[in-house]
Amino acid sequence: MKISFAILGLTAGHLVGFASAVPFHSRGAQSSSSTYADDMFNTAIEWNDGFWNEDAGYLVAAASNPGRYDTRHTAWYATQLLARNGHGDVARAVRIFDNVISGQYLDPADQWYGDYTQSPSAPQPGTTEYPDEGPYSSWDPNIRDFVGCAWLVALNDYDHLLPAETVARVEKSLHIAAKGDLYRVGGVDGDNLYPCYSNPWIMRTILQNWVGTRVGDKNLTQSGEKFAQELYDLWSMYHTLSEFNSPTYSGVAMWALALWSQYASDGSLLQKYVPEILTASWNELAQLYNANLKNLAGPWDRTYGYNMMSYTSLVAPVIWGAVGKEYAPFPKQISGMYHQDDFAFYPLFALAMPEMLKYLSAQSKKNLVEFPGEHLHTAQAYSPPFDTYPRNITTWMSKDLTIGAETLAQDVIGGAAKSTSAFNPAVIQWAIDNSQTGCVTHWVTESSIHAVASPNALDISYPNATSTDGPVSFNFLFSGLAVSHRVNVTGLEGLPGLKLKVTTNALADYTIVYDTDQSVNDFIFYNITYTMPEQFTDAPFISLRVV
Ligand SMILES: *[C@@H]1O[C@H](CO)[C@@H](O)[C@H](O)[C@H]1NC(C)=O
Ligand SMILES: *[C@@H]1O[C@H](CO)[C@@H](O)[C@H](O)[C@H]1NC(C)=O
Ligand SMILES: *[C@@H]1O[C@H](CO)[C@@H](O)[C@H](O)[C@H]1NC(C)=O
Ligand SMILES: *[C@@H]1O[C@H](CO)[C@@H](O)[C@H](O)[C@H]1NC(C)=O
Ligand SMILES: *[C@@H]1O[C@H](CO)[C@@H](O)[C@H](O)[C@H]1NC(C)=O
Repeated sequence: MKISFAILGLTAGHLVGFASAVPFHSRGAQSSSSTYADDMFNTAIEWNDGFWNEDAGYLVAAASNPGRYDTRHTAWYATQLLARNGHGDVARAVRIFDNVISGQYLDPADQWYGDYTQSPSAPQPGTTEYPDEGPYSSWDPNIRDFVGCAWLVALNDYDHLLPAETVARVEKSLHIAAKGDLYRVGGVDGDNLYPCYSNPWIMRTILQNWVGTRVGDKNLTQSGEKFAQELYDLWSMYHTLSEFNSPTYSGVAMWALALWSQYASDGSLLQKYVPEILTASWNELAQLYNANLKNLAGPWDRTYGYNMMSYTSLVAPVIWGAVGKEYAPFPKQISGMYHQDDFAFYPLFALAMPEMLKYLSAQSKKNLVEFPGEHLHTAQAYSPPFDTYPRNITTWMSKDLTIGAETLAQDVIGGAAKSTSAFNPAVIQWAIDNSQTGCVTHWVTESSIHAVASPNALDISYPNATSTDGPVSFNFLFSGLAVSHRVNVTGLEGLPGLKLKVTTNALADYTIVYDTDQSVNDFIFYNITYTMPEQFTDAPFISLRVV
């Protein structure tokens, strides 16, 4: 059975799903965004249906997870089921609410108060069997926000479908989750939730505002105002989110901003600030998206892949919902997508799409479909307390080749999230041929990096590196050649489909290794490494020119 959504013509916030035997595509020549959202909703919820385990009352984990079942995805699915409201969907959602709530931590003395288990099999955190080694160990503090934001949509829009008892239980659970979220203070007890951690910060803000308003808890509502102001103050410095240009988290941020727009209380600071931030988010996306390569150009503060056509990102549903799957950076084949578990989130993006689209200009929309022509995009982004100074971003975009880089000095290696595999401050992407996109990314080993992109060029240096820190090296990971036809990849000057000239004060002899460990975001790559001489005085540099 296919389900149709009547999104157009309904007031925002009162989206009504209805069961129908008519496939969505037979609703006439309606090539509108509501059709794209329908298409995305149906495709992804049906994929989720396939993971449902009736005995457990949970979704089987789609990828690595601390247990066989995945609490967060299952919680997301509850809201989606209510939106679809097909045969048996509401009963299944009620069961999920009961199951997930039974795994909520209720002791106010715990740092994880109000959080939900990562998996229903997990023992109590903070025990010998499952020690508490701070946030993201035996408990994940962001689950409050992910579950909370999905469920506020459920209660706001679909509570009429639920028994009063379930509504009361979910309300109470969200109240506890929101109170527990207030335990999070960046820098205290190992917590990292600063305003610069854009995606959960934006989610927590609407969670506080909405729950506070719903249950009449003024401290929560006021916390929402405070968090909105702190986000806005940081954002206004450069009109960018600190978690800049992430193929995954820029999507989460836009989704959560759409929730600000749709669900925040009237007269709140969330309502006041969201038009400016969400409009700018779309415009930035339209500048950095290459509709020809179907990829966001670099640099990426946080990524889980190197070609969006091979893994599931969360910017893809934003673009799919706006202009259709055909133009989205989404794998052609669902089977075998890397990072596939994020596909479970897509139906929630579909529901938010009418609100999100209110802020998309005609020109930006056009850029998502057709590459607008060669351009250089410059920006700044700031992540206190990690950045010594605001990062400078330069991205040069042409139809078949993009080069993106950022200059930074931080007190950690791997960006604010301290993840060397996610943080990609210098990236080159190009069309190897009609179907393959190559990627060379700079693997970070330093906390201070000058990386600047300009037309056909990438310059990287380490201003703070000295030979006493040694060995000092420049590591580049090349990927994208999935069918090599026996082309030999021999180094940065021997890449398929891209002719580069290398200039460096590192040793001329580089190493190249084909790495199949899959320890970096599951991907397979050539690791090309240039190493500095043991003794050096000038700052290490490497320059790549397209010739
Ligand atoms: C009220 O909210 C603030 C954060 O905005 C928090 O620090 C404080 O603990 C909260 N008070 C109560 C009683 O929950
Ligand atoms: C970053 O860019 C700004 C504005 O163009 C400039 O003033 C500043 O010196 C740059 N900083 C670095 C570290 O390059
Ligand atoms: C790197 O050096 C610059 C000055 O050249 C300094 O401002 C900055 O704090 C240093 N950064 C780190 C992380 O040591
Ligand atoms: C690739 O290298 C192998 C072994 O060195 C060689 O036999 C082969 O001819 C090379 N292929 C091409 C296309 O140059
Ligand atoms: C790439 O190779 C270098 C040199 O062997 C090594 O130090 C580095 O850890 C490798 N990087 C990755 C991501 O495997």
